[in-house]
Amino acid sequence: MDRDRLEFSREEMRSLGYRVVDLLVDHFADGEEEGLGASPSRANLEARLRESLPEEGNDPHAVLDQVEADVLPNTMRVDHPRFFGFVPGPNNFIGVLADALAAGFNVFSGTWISGAAAAQVELVVIDWLCELCGLPDTAGGLFTSGGSMANVTALAAARHAVLDDEVTNAVAYCSNQTHTSVDRALRLLGFGAHQLRRLPSDDRFRLDPEALRDAIALDRNDGRRPFCVIANAGTTNTGAVDPLPKVADIAEAEGLWLHVDGAYGAAAVVCERGRAALGGLDRADSLTMDPHKWLFQPFEIGGVLVRDERHLRRAFRLEAEYLADAVGAEDEANFSAYGIQLTRSFRALKLWMTLKVFGRKHVAAAVHRGFERAEQAEQFLRNRPGWAVVTSAQMGIVTFRCEPEDWTDDRVDALNRHLVSAINEEGEVFLTKTTLDGRPVLRLCPINPRTTDEDLRTTFARLDALRRDHCPSA
Ligand SMILES: Cc1ncc(COP(=O)(O)O)c(C=O)c1O
Repeated sequence: MDRDRLEFSREEMRSLGYRVVDLLVDHFADGEEEGLGASPSRANLEARLRESLPEEGNDPHAVLDQVEADVLPNTMRVDHPRFFGFVPGPNNFIGVLADALAAGFNVFSGTWISGAAAAQVELVVIDWLCELCGLPDTAGGLFTSGGSMANVTALAAARHAVLDDEVTNAVAYCSNQTHTSVDRALRLLGFGAHQLRRLPSDDRFRLDPEALRDAIALDRNDGRRPFCVIANAGTTNTGAVDPLPKVADIAEAEGLWLHVDGAYGAAAVVCERGRAALGGLDRADSLTMDPHKWLFQPFEIGGVLVRDERHLRRAFRLEAEYLADAVGAEDEANFSAYGIQLTRSFRALKLWMTLKVFGRKHVAAAVHRGFERAEQAEQFLRNRPGWAVVTSAQMGIVTFRCEPEDWTDDRVDALNRHLVSAINEEGEVFLTKTTLDGRPVLRLCPINPRTTDEDLRTTFARLDALRRDHCPSA
């Protein structure tokens, strides 16, 4: 190793590299036995990891030892087949290899001149996604770090296209189930919190078109400027899909931009069940779809698709003297001109390689399993005493509660909160809670295609045991 050149010999690189590959292979092959990982306290991790900045450096194998001992086991395994919390991250090995290559070759994906083939791959994959969503030939987009960045990118395009960037008195609309990244995006784009109407949703947690129409009329009447509707294609809470065709009709009639936040759910268009659930997606002016959620990619890859890609170019285009050499020919895509980042990693590679290796059909089968697992979970709940399904399985999510008869609401709420921490403490299963209509509910998101029948059986056996411990009468 030549430390001043930050350089290793071939043998050293091989030895370190093979060790990393072995770690990854063991993780993918024996992931289940590894368990769900851990989330230790800050004090615990301070004790393990706090040190002053190393002056001389260490043996790289010793550093890898520490990664193995202190870092990797002290994170949650969001790709574990019994990790059902939040939105799981069941990535795939091809995506991992692609990320290693993208990092290893340090491909610059911001300009054609520096990353021509990377840009071409991104163009191709974005076109595949646009086609799956039924967007027209004018559509385009780019990959971002995730859904939050995709939402802010899309809403910047909307602000530019509809408002010419003048936000005074402008108003956007969404349901109260919308992800907070939308609130944050609008805040960053200069809108006050009062410029986003979070409208009550219907009894299935979907945006109510009548409420939307009324709110727009009220705002127009008061001299405000409605400019955008944000609809959900799979909410984080329950997987609810807003009535996209009706919402699109209203947006069209009112001259509003329709952004669809499908960060979680839009990827399901890859399979038939998803396509059926997502009718109207093709009406979006812009759309967020995160491959690092339900398209099985390693973090980070979100995506924004825009019906007319010129809106992205117009919203983001800037010129700089130091980038004069990067301008290139008209048909050469400079993705840095379509979004926020200039320096961008080659995110498209992992999705491109995944789709090429497995094929749409098999990725679709993997997504389809998520629908089925959630339905299977719902059946488990319906066949067991003491459990109430709060929202039926939709888009791979089911929510439920333990509801012993004759208990007060407060006591039932406390029980359900406790069940989540109790099951997670056991370490066999990880799930999370959310709040619906002001009440805590348990939420299961079984979209990992490697989740088995046995995993679900274990999950419900554990839940039942806890239920019996805490409310024998239920
Ligand atoms: C519906 C929805 N929108 C946006 C986001 C934000 O995406 P990210 O976490 O990739 O920034 C999420 C994340 O779970 C989501 O579920």
